[in-house]
Amino acid sequence: MDAFLVDYRTFHNCDPPGLLKLWHASNLGPSAAEGFPCDIFELFVFSQPFFDRNGLIVAVDGDRIIGFVHAGFSCNEQQSALDKTQGVISALVVHPDFRRQGIGSDLMRRGEQYLTSKGSTTVCAGAGLDGNGFYNGMYGGLQASGFSALIAPWPEFMGKLGYQPADTTNILHRNLTQGRDPVSARLIRHRRRLNLVITDRVGDLPWWWHVRFGHLDALKFTLQERHNDAVVACGQILGLDVFVAKWGVRSVGLRNVLVPEDQRRHGYGLSLVLEICRRLREQSIQLIEAQVDSKNQAACDLFAAAGFEHVQELVTFRKSLSV
Ligand SMILES: CC(C)(COP(=O)(O)OP(=O)(O)OC[C@H]1O[C@@H](n2cnc3c(N)ncnc32)[C@H](O)[C@@H]1OP(=O)(O)O)[C@@H](O)C(=O)NCCC(=O)NCCS
Repeated sequence: MDAFLVDYRTFHNCDPPGLLKLWHASNLGPSAAEGFPCDIFELFVFSQPFFDRNGLIVAVDGDRIIGFVHAGFSCNEQQSALDKTQGVISALVVHPDFRRQGIGSDLMRRGEQYLTSKGSTTVCAGAGLDGNGFYNGMYGGLQASGFSALIAPWPEFMGKLGYQPADTTNILHRNLTQGRDPVSARLIRHRRRLNLVITDRVGDLPWWWHVRFGHLDALKFTLQERHNDAVVACGQILGLDVFVAKWGVRSVGLRNVLVPEDQRRHGYGLSLVLEICRRLREQSIQLIEAQVDSKNQAACDLFAAAGFEHVQELVTFRKSLSV
């Protein structure tokens, strides 16, 4: 490769085509959508109401973008606004021809400087489940909750920058065109006793949900007792349309599966997930994805019982920014 001089600067309005080219040349693995136009970047990243050009820092060789880091923030507990004390690294990419030359590390340091200047006291690289305000719908599958462990030597890279491993999200897939749904007397009883209600009014959801998923197709599924409409389980699906070109199948993501505490251990969660799978199959959806915190054993077991397979992990790393 010819000698190059790397320069760093914040995002310019003319950068999207260069970022799109970098994204498609960087072998980002199965978690990264591909084959999409600039509009997708616009919709999922630049048009976010909290997008700040100073948080998106590019590495350039002349006019060519050869890397970028995107620093931002997670949300407060009520999910009603950003919490700037909680910095996140939403994305980090270096072109394969320019790796192992310190560019990724330089980008990270610049991202951290931006976060510190805004008052962040911690930073989570990869953001974590429900922590990323950007790239949802175009990276990670259902949501951008970490960096694909299959693709880069994250522990070595992050370790050298002083980060500790943090949460891991399990990516679970079920191919709806193969295999059979489990059957049991309990599941049959539930089908007789319960109604599945489907609505496109996904409910009373917080600001953080709307800014991240509001532009995706969403449906709410509620499993209710026939005799009194009491809810025994609910969940939500989101269309993963941008992944069709990469995965070659129509897919949806399943999130927020919830069984009220007093209704747990009766098999209602499994009934709901299987009912959703059945309805999606009827709509010719071929793949369903769920994302689960690797420490959430109950959810991991539920999805395994429903025929989901562990396909990969999205990892995160944490560091304190306080001096
Ligand atoms: C992870 C990534 C950003 C690293 O960028 P980089 O510019 O090559 O990293 P650096 O040169 O700054 O590496 C710093 C240290 O990390 C470690 N490291 C980086 N790459 C490594 C590798 N392939 N194997 C082992 N250690 C590695 C080393 O300790 C290295 O220091 P050294 O070169 O002095 O040994 C790059 O591999 C990448 O872009 N991967 C794909 C990104 C991705 O999937 N992003 C998710 C979408 S947002």
